[in-house]
Amino acid sequence: MDFETLVRLRKSVRQYEDKKPVPSLIEKCIEAARLAPSACNSQPWSFIVVEDRDLVQKVAEQCVPPVGSMNKFVRTAPVIVVQVMEKTNIQSSIGSMLTDRDYNHIDTGLAMGHFCLQAAALGLGTCIIGYFNESKIKELLGIPKNRRIGLLCTLGYEKGGQKEGTKKRKPLESMLFYNRYKEDENK
Ligand SMILES: Cc1cc2nc3c(=O)[nH]c(=O)nc-3n(C[C@H](O)[C@H](O)[C@H](O)COP(=O)(O)O)c2cc1C
Repeated sequence: MDFETLVRLRKSVRQYEDKKPVPSLIEKCIEAARLAPSACNSQPWSFIVVEDRDLVQKVAEQCVPPVGSMNKFVRTAPVIVVQVMEKTNIQSSIGSMLTDRDYNHIDTGLAMGHFCLQAAALGLGTCIIGYFNESKIKELLGIPKNRRIGLLCTLGYEKGGQKEGTKKRKPLESMLFYNRYKEDENK
């Protein structure tokens, strides 16, 4: 599969088959995340693969807000990957301070991007989850108090088979400029 096809194929999958991917496939996705770029090569991440059925349900519960139906689908995923933000290196922390930019969050997001693209290439579906009760999930998984969770990501086989979705995106011309920023008078 060429890269353009893969990029179009990857989408957020919110309904899964009741079938767990084998560890070697899960590990290929983690490997792709491991190879992601990071500021000063600090690699400020680790990953917990939650695949125990009861534990998946408990983590999934912590992704649903008190009102509304957001993230209820997480319960259907056979696997949830929880990304822990690890200590960064001194160069990256100084860089973050000097530029007023949180490189750790940028790095962890990039790693999750790699994870999702690799999963799609292997025929697996993913959905990055940014809404969750961090302290409850830390408790459930034994993550130390001095660590933060980056992102969560569901992983499994899309219900009914992998299919390309429709992409709702802003038009290219609204976000692409050559040489100089151009303000949109309609914004
Ligand atoms: C940082 C981040 C947090 C996200 N959090 C959630 C979430 O909590 N629940 C959810 O259903 N989708 C979540 N998404 C998925 C986005 O809604 C999705 O990527 C976007 O709508 C584009 O659709 P696509 O992934 O199918 O191309 C998140 C995506 C990112 C990058």
